[in-house]
Amino acid sequence: MIDLADDLTPPDDAILARAAAAGTPLYLYDLRRVTARAARLREAFGGRLGLSFAVKANPNPTLLRAMIGVVDTLDVSSGGELAQAIAAGWDAGRISFTGPAKREAEIRRALAVGLGELVVESLAEARMADAAAAELGLRQAVVARIAPDRVPKGFGDQMAGRPSPFGIDAEMAADTLAQIAALPNLRLAGLHFYSGTQCLRADAVVENWRIFLGLARGLAPLCEGGKLRLILGAGLGIPYHETDAPLDLSAVADAIAPDLDALAAEGRFARPLLELGRYLVGPAGWFLTRVVAVKDSRGQRIGLCDGGMNAHLAASGHFGMVIHRNYRLHLVGGSGEAEPVNLTGPLCTSIDRLAQGAMLPRVEPGALVAIHMSGAYGPTTSPVNFISHPIPREAVVTEAGEVVAADWLPRRPGVE
Ligand SMILES: Cc1ncc(COP(=O)(O)O)c(C=O)c1O
Repeated sequence: MIDLADDLTPPDDAILARAAAAGTPLYLYDLRRVTARAARLREAFGGRLGLSFAVKANPNPTLLRAMIGVVDTLDVSSGGELAQAIAAGWDAGRISFTGPAKREAEIRRALAVGLGELVVESLAEARMADAAAAELGLRQAVVARIAPDRVPKGFGDQMAGRPSPFGIDAEMAADTLAQIAALPNLRLAGLHFYSGTQCLRADAVVENWRIFLGLARGLAPLCEGGKLRLILGAGLGIPYHETDAPLDLSAVADAIAPDLDALAAEGRFARPLLELGRYLVGPAGWFLTRVVAVKDSRGQRIGLCDGGMNAHLAASGHFGMVIHRNYRLHLVGGSGEAEPVNLTGPLCTSIDRLAQGAMLPRVEPGALVAIHMSGAYGPTTSPVNFISHPIPREAVVTEAGEVVAADWLPRRPGVE
């Protein structure tokens, strides 16, 4: 029986310290935690949903390889991510390709390597794919991304329900899908929905899925094939801040189970796929940064760290949406009375802050800080080239509990 409560405890400080000995700043991903989170999701939904990992959340090759047996499919959002997934050992047939502004060359390449499904976001893109498929002499499976006309309150980022570059507006979907279905070199094999992210409210997640299911039922007759593909963007949020209550996954699952059962009974769709990134990997990663110097300035204590916004943009609060500072964090090996401290990074800008007024045991030079919830949107979103500081290292905790280097981004020559 899997524990359905969110596991937010960090690994032992000894493991964090061992990982940091290789050099900081460093991201540590616990592969056991990722596997457990995937199992927990499957169990919560009673096997009614498959899992698709959105590579944009964390394209680390070691992590992607480890996910081959953990999730059913991958979703990539560029030709670059597709190449990384294939290099990590993924079969292109188990990959979907979502994303706005896909270029003709990357569509052609994706089709040529045997992509599972192209998620078309517009009629123009479908026409481009049709031409590429004709050139290659194949009939490509495509899934149409639909942008619903509303997104319930509670999502950190809304990608539909207003003018949006993502997907086909629901109001035009019937007409547009009919035109896509008529393209001779494409097979409209299903539907894709992704309209909001970082939601901690069970009722909002459920309401959003009901919007998706309603649209899916209405549009299914325009698709072709026995069992259609249905990709449900999850938007499941994670508790970045101490004040966030974790999403009640059981409440989501209990409420949506009858809807999923009803859909399954209609027999039109194959088992839907839950497409998600941060929920799977975010709480399985920690960012480790070392305090280089300490300054007492005008009544506030400041710990100046070797990696800040340059290495972890999201934790600095500049990745947009509602994910502000301070992330959950702790002082590795720290003990004693907590006092307020600000944590800044190495950049020459006052926006390079990781924490303001964090309550930690006294921070001294050499101290190691662990920022939690860092397994998603870490190195991949960060401006690592700004001021040419060291590129963040990456490491994993393996299923056997060992810490193994998993660097991905090339190191900067001559910089340790
Ligand atoms: C199409 C699509 N799928 C999946 C994701 C992953 O979102 P999350 O990491 O919040 O699960 C995103 C995020 O923006 C997305 O745009």
